[in-house]
Amino acid sequence: MKRIQITSEFTEFENVNELSPDDQKLVEEARLSANKAYAPYSRFQVGAAVALENGKILRGNNQENASYPIGLCAERVAIFAAGANFPGVKISAIAVTASSDQFHIDKPITPCGACRQAIAEYEHRYHGPIRLILVGETGKVLVSDSIRSFLPYQFTADDLQVKTS
Ligand code: THU
Repeated sequence: MKRIQITSEFTEFENVNELSPDDQKLVEEARLSANKAYAPYSRFQVGAAVALENGKILRGNNQENASYPIGLCAERVAIFAAGANFPGVKISAIAVTASSDQFHIDKPITPCGACRQAIAEYEHRYHGPIRLILVGETGKVLVSDSIRSFLPYQFTADDLQVKTS
């Protein structure tokens, strides 16, 4: 037998001002998107912005429903919009942020498990990592080079022996 150890690497920035101008712009897009979220039930407004390799930026935000489980997270709305509107164009980065009128969010929020799996699909589909930039309303910024940091030991199309491209 052997023990397997998997490590994850992240970069932490003190605040958004330490980010590159491109990353700051992506965070700003995510903030604008969070303001337009449809989250009347949780009042937790999440915004995502996806940067494509062709220079386009697409926004997504959480879309809730009176039938609670039907709602969709901001990350998946954004990633699926990219897949729907620009199939075949690689996604290079995604910024995610959240705001609430109930409490102040002073630390990065990290994608839920389902969104991690959805983002992993697109890394696999386009054969390249997607950088994640995560931030709350204020405070530190968490950056990772790939969803692998958040989702090691992935289940992918390879396990189904399916070619996605
Ligand atoms: N939510 C997201 O949009 N992204 C996440 O990564 C975590 C949770 C949404 C789902 C729901 O509309 C609200 O936040 C509260 O869970």
